[in-house]
Amino acid sequence: MLDLLVTNATLPDGRSGMSLAVQDGRFVEVAPGLAAPARETLDAAGLLVSPPFVDAHFHMDATLSYGLPRVNQSGTLLEGIALWGELKPQLTQDAVVERALAYCDWAVAKGLLAIRSHVDTSDPSMLAVDALLEVQRRVKPYLDLQLVAFPQDGVLRAPGGLAHLERALDRGVDVVGGITHFERRMAEGAASGTLLCEIAARRGKLVDMHCDESDDPLSRHVETLAYETHRLGLQGRVTGSHLTSMHSMDNYYVSKLLPLMAQAQLNVVSNPLINITLQGRHDTYPKRRGMTRVPELLAQGMTVAFGQDCVMDPWYSLGSGDMLEVASMGLHVAQMTSQAAIRQCFDAVTRNPAKIMQLEGYGLEAGCNADFVLLQARDPIEAIRLRATRLQVVRRGKVLAQTPAATANLHLAGRPGQTSLMYRSG
Ligand code: FE2
Repeated sequence: MLDLLVTNATLPDGRSGMSLAVQDGRFVEVAPGLAAPARETLDAAGLLVSPPFVDAHFHMDATLSYGLPRVNQSGTLLEGIALWGELKPQLTQDAVVERALAYCDWAVAKGLLAIRSHVDTSDPSMLAVDALLEVQRRVKPYLDLQLVAFPQDGVLRAPGGLAHLERALDRGVDVVGGITHFERRMAEGAASGTLLCEIAARRGKLVDMHCDESDDPLSRHVETLAYETHRLGLQGRVTGSHLTSMHSMDNYYVSKLLPLMAQAQLNVVSNPLINITLQGRHDTYPKRRGMTRVPELLAQGMTVAFGQDCVMDPWYSLGSGDMLEVASMGLHVAQMTSQAAIRQCFDAVTRNPAKIMQLEGYGLEAGCNADFVLLQARDPIEAIRLRATRLQVVRRGKVLAQTPAATANLHLAGRPGQTSLMYRSG
């Protein structure tokens, strides 16, 4: 007897009429039209069953703190960092935990079941680190929270920055982070990249570096990141986050850089909502869009994800943990409008970040964890277009969240009575 049988599902790869059989929290068979006794059944009615959304770039220690102690007037990254510095002395561990748990509730409701969050290690008290380790423990039954030791004030620029980062890793933080573009000089930015990759190699950790988050075309720390990844044998284990300076770089230089990045199997996380908001602030017109070169990186065979980065914090006043909104913004900014490219944008908030985070058992194949989202859409393109309702969010075969279908009752002369904005021509 199965625990759960999902029938008549459409999968992201386009297969329709599919059944997913669940036993002991895992998919045991995924095939068309299965009929087997099950304790529970779920008729997907032809709608899209997707693996859960994954966010490979977030800041959970700052989330939901918008307006504390004031709002960001200039809208720039640097004022956001200064503002966060003003807020830090006022933080309490309980308040950080409470805000993070509230965000995780939103995430689950939106089918977002795995998050890689950076946590600021600059504060010697380790308040934020301890708070997010506590959150990681509390959400473990329903959400995979991976933490990155993130030296917001610069591992070399701030006194004791390196020691504090190592203390965070000693406490159990999973991944080595950095902020190359915030060090005092280009040379120190590069040196910090080298140091941090060496720490990761020594400790057997993954790396996720805030890298080149500026409009400066000469900010080339990604070059160091690719070089050190190659030198230290960390291929596939290192992620460059943001890489916004690549937007502004000289095309000839990029033509040399891209193959070096691909050779190092560097992963990339772009954060479209935040990049388009924070970058280009010093421009008049034309205003640069600031997002890294996503289609070109994908064409090199690199794994590229879209991250949320910020929700209601010193850098960004909006956001809701809706990775379909993130995918939609990425699609628009990168002009990834072909059918194939829109599907790539869906992968950039599902499969690709799962690969970057090295999540085990992710996917809809037999043997994978029975984690999925039933969306009110019939394919990934419609899901992005409609920011589709997450009808059911399921983890290990158990329902975590349900949202009623979005359907409007119409009162129009001579027209059918309801619409849910789904449409298929022909
Ligand atoms: Fe970030």
